[in-house]
Amino acid sequence: DIWPFYIYESLDSTNAEAARLLTAGVEPPFLVLAERQTAGRGRRGRVWQSPFGVNVYLSLVIRVQKGARQLEGLSLVVGLAVMQALRASGLGEAGLKWPNDILVQGKKIAGVLLELTGDPADVCDVVVGVGVNVNMESESGIEQPWTSMRLELQHLIDRNDLVCALSRHLHGYLARHAELGFAAFQDEWESSHLWQGREVVLIAGTQRIEGLVLGVDHVGALRLSVNGVEQRYSGGEISLRLC
Ligand code: BTN
Repeated sequence: DIWPFYIYESLDSTNAEAARLLTAGVEPPFLVLAERQTAGRGRRGRVWQSPFGVNVYLSLVIRVQKGARQLEGLSLVVGLAVMQALRASGLGEAGLKWPNDILVQGKKIAGVLLELTGDPADVCDVVVGVGVNVNMESESGIEQPWTSMRLELQHLIDRNDLVCALSRHLHGYLARHAELGFAAFQDEWESSHLWQGREVVLIAGTQRIEGLVLGVDHVGALRLSVNGVEQRYSGGEISLRLC
């Protein structure tokens, strides 16, 4: 009820459809939802398994004016909003893994994929893709440990209610982020970070860096202590493992 919805039975990817709608002249903000995806995209070139009728696959498109500041920490704020929507839906244990994974009991339950169009220095449209494992109980081909709301809560979840909770949380968090920037979320984000204070390996391409997680800075970059020296990392292609 907050944004216009485009709902499909099947799409290659809601992010891809969102980009096509933009090209066709549809004005942001709007939401794209699908019952299944045949080419769901994950971060770092991965596939997002998207079986029919059990999960939530959504893309929210927003227009960001005169870029940089409004993009700072945006993907972390989206992760935070999704996590809070899951907590409000009964999953009190949901937490974050930098930059924007949502985990329960060390297993992935939701992911976020941001894709930009246009010139970030000017006006740019951001496709905010969110995938949540809702009623999925089994699925082959997922390479990392995963879970779903149904597996954790042991009952069927109403996906309409969940989409409402997601859009309400996204709306509130994104409005506050547009106004105040990521700095306003730094504490809340860190207090939900499951790997705060942990020893991790950061993987960026072929590089592997070991360090201790200190937190995030005012733009959402990861602060890592590497051999006692603080380093900061940001970028969509980075991932973390526990040591
Ligand atoms: C990740 O790798 O953690 C990000 C997963 C993002 C999946 C969602 S599902 C809806 C949207 N459309 C896509 O093709 N991907 C995102």
